Amino acid sequence: MPRIAVYPGSFDPITNGHLDIVRRASRLCDHLYVAVADNSVKHHTFSVGERMAMVRAAIRGIPHCEVDTFHGLLGEHVKSMKATILIRGLRAVSDMDYEFQMASMNRRIYPDLETVFLMPDERYTYLSSSIVKDVTRMGAHVEEYLPPIVVRMLRRKFKLRKV
Ligand code: COA
Repeated sequence: MPRIAVYPGSFDPITNGHLDIVRRASRLCDHLYVAVADNSVKHHTFSVGERMAMVRAAIRGIPHCEVDTFHGLLGEHVKSMKATILIRGLRAVSDMDYEFQMASMNRRIYPDLETVFLMPDERYTYLSSSIVKDVTRMGAHVEEYLPPIVVRMLRRKFKLRKV
């Protein structure tokens, strides 16, 4: 049985912290889907199509890894993909409460699913999509935290120079 894993998130936008998790996860499974959520209650800066395009470009070259999207319950989607591994990143202790709630609920929906928590490189511990958007909008340079396509799309979105 191939080990199929899903790494879900909003990816609004994908950062190098997320990419670090993708690289680690791809070494643990036979196939990895990076699943862009299409139904979050969050207000997104980028459309699902834009978020998928950024993920697709960012993961190019990482073996047996592809972008995907889902609508509705994550547990049902993971089941329909015949995946048995759910990847989540744990950056700090503050992530744990929410992550444990999600993991227990997903296990209830799909008992064969194992949630695997991976720790990103310490450089990315305090990184989030919101913080990179905020500082980019104010003109800071955040290239070291973002794939090049994301830098370009953020500058275009916020109508900043140097597109
Ligand atoms: N590097 C950088 N940032 C990271 C990160 C990492 N390794 N890991 C998490 N983050 C950040 C994200 O950038 C994001 O920041 P933001 O809030 O500023 O945008 C934040 O941490 C949380 O992001 P993410 O891990 O993508 O979670 P999410 O809350 O955006 O998405 C879903 C969670 C979509 C997976 C979840 O809501 C879901 O499954 N929804 C479907 C409905 C469902 O089934 N609900 C029940 C679940 S039990």
